[in-house]
Amino acid sequence: MPRLPRLPAPTLPSALRAPPQRPGEENGGAGALEQAREAGISAVDWVDERTSLSGATRWLLFRKVPKGTNWFYTLGSATMFAFLSQAVTGVFLAMYYRPDASGGAYESIRHVTNDVFLGQFVRGMHKWGSSVMVILIFLHMGRTFLFGAYKYPRELNWVIGVVLLVLTMVMAFTGYLLPFDQRAYWATIVGLNINGSGPLLGPYLSDFLRGGGEFGATTLSRFYAIHMLLVPGLIVVLIGAHLYLVAKLGTTAPPWQKAEKPAELREAEA
Ligand code: HEM
Repeated sequence: MPRLPRLPAPTLPSALRAPPQRPGEENGGAGALEQAREAGISAVDWVDERTSLSGATRWLLFRKVPKGTNWFYTLGSATMFAFLSQAVTGVFLAMYYRPDASGGAYESIRHVTNDVFLGQFVRGMHKWGSSVMVILIFLHMGRTFLFGAYKYPRELNWVIGVVLLVLTMVMAFTGYLLPFDQRAYWATIVGLNINGSGPLLGPYLSDFLRGGGEFGATTLSRFYAIHMLLVPGLIVVLIGAHLYLVAKLGTTAPPWQKAEKPAELREAEA
């Protein structure tokens, strides 16, 4: 069949007509696809032009790592991920929780577990996640100890790590009381009595945690404030300092990794 001649293109309103070519656009301006591809880069460039943050990001993320770096080096990041997961699930739990010692706390937890959509799942993630974080932090500490990463010049990072470990323990201890059931109540009394038996500071510490001589409503709200405001805030600041030092000092090579001899020395020995 003979092909029909093509009809001339209809005239477009001026708003839809392609803009005249600019100097340097000899091959036609960027098409929609090209523009979409460039959109991310343009957005990042826009922010960078105003903040100069790309240098800091490059410094933090694009570092050289020693030869022999292996899966054990991911334990720190895994601990951080566990902390982030605790923070996110904790925010959702806090939307329903009431630190009310006369039955409200227990009831709010029962409500989250039995009635709220995905409540049991989120609560389970937070509860099991706390154990995961404690296990991971110990494994990470073991890795840094066995690889000798506590030595010069990383002593300060080790000390910050010890404080992070203590704060993680405080999170686990204060969180345990919050459901305010029989187990939480009596376990915390035992914990406070152990604290109180410590030398010198022990009795003051347990008095402070209890919020006075009596274990009750003040203890619960105090534990809640420590658990969801004070200690997470400190942990965020200290993780920031910890990671700053990791980026500044770099990581330690595994102990079995031998230093490469400079070429002159190798030649001299040969
Ligand atoms: C919330 C807890 C913690 C987080 C999120 C965290 C995170 C990290 C990360 C991401 C690294 C980079 C290399 C790696 O993962 O091994 C690191 C390194 C390091 N961490 Fe931690 N850490 C925590 C707790 C601790 C504890 C409890 C200690 C020891 C008491 C510690 C001591 C160190 C040391 C010495 C390094 C340097 C390792 C090296 O140079 O090879 N950290 N940490």
